[in-house]
Amino acid sequence: MTTYDDRHAAYITALFAAHDPALAAIYAAIPKRGLPAITIRPEEGRFLQFLARACAARRAVEIGTLGGYSGAWIARGLAPDGRLITLEKEPRHAEVAREHFALAGVADRVDVRVGDAHTLLPALAAEGPFDFCFIDAEKDGYPAYLDWALANLRPGGVVAAHNAFRHGAVVAGDRGEAATEVMRAFNRRCAAEPRLVSTIFPAGDGMVVGVVA
Ligand code: DHB
Ligand code: MG
Repeated sequence: MTTYDDRHAAYITALFAAHDPALAAIYAAIPKRGLPAITIRPEEGRFLQFLARACAARRAVEIGTLGGYSGAWIARGLAPDGRLITLEKEPRHAEVAREHFALAGVADRVDVRVGDAHTLLPALAAEGPFDFCFIDAEKDGYPAYLDWALANLRPGGVVAAHNAFRHGAVVAGDRGEAATEVMRAFNRRCAAEPRLVSTIFPAGDGMVVGVVA
């Protein structure tokens, strides 16, 4: 019996998700510049790039920019004329992310919009339909973000949502904190959603993914 653990993550990362100098600098800068140390891991970034490319994403949305690390990976997966719109509530994070998109050479493909996603998303619908949507923000918002994604992704479009495992809490038997219960319900909903073929990619903190049927 083989269990996925940090050695497997390191193996995947070394083979498939090695950083170039820009990604290395961005990854290192996020905690150093005082942003929360909750960014995705390299192998999760590579998976986002893979997903964006697999659905030939020309119009992508990210909910929760943080320092731009995940966005840089997504931007590098876009189709040649693709664009990423990334939403960030915290102006300081957005400022750092803009610097990082320039560093990664994708600033021309990424539009950072500052504000609460719940406020920004309704108007964003007019710029769709979208090919790809990555959700990585406050867990309370996930149900509404998934509603939006289902309404605004084209058939064959892909939705991905980070922290499926809530650092392992979702598989602990006991009743979890509120955010853990939200994530458990979110995972159940994705599994049962007839409009999605979905699963969890188990690297890092887990990525719930679904392709619109
Ligand atoms: C936390 C981690 C995340 O990746 C995230 O998107 C939100 C919160 C956390 O550890 O609290
Ligand atoms: Mg996250």
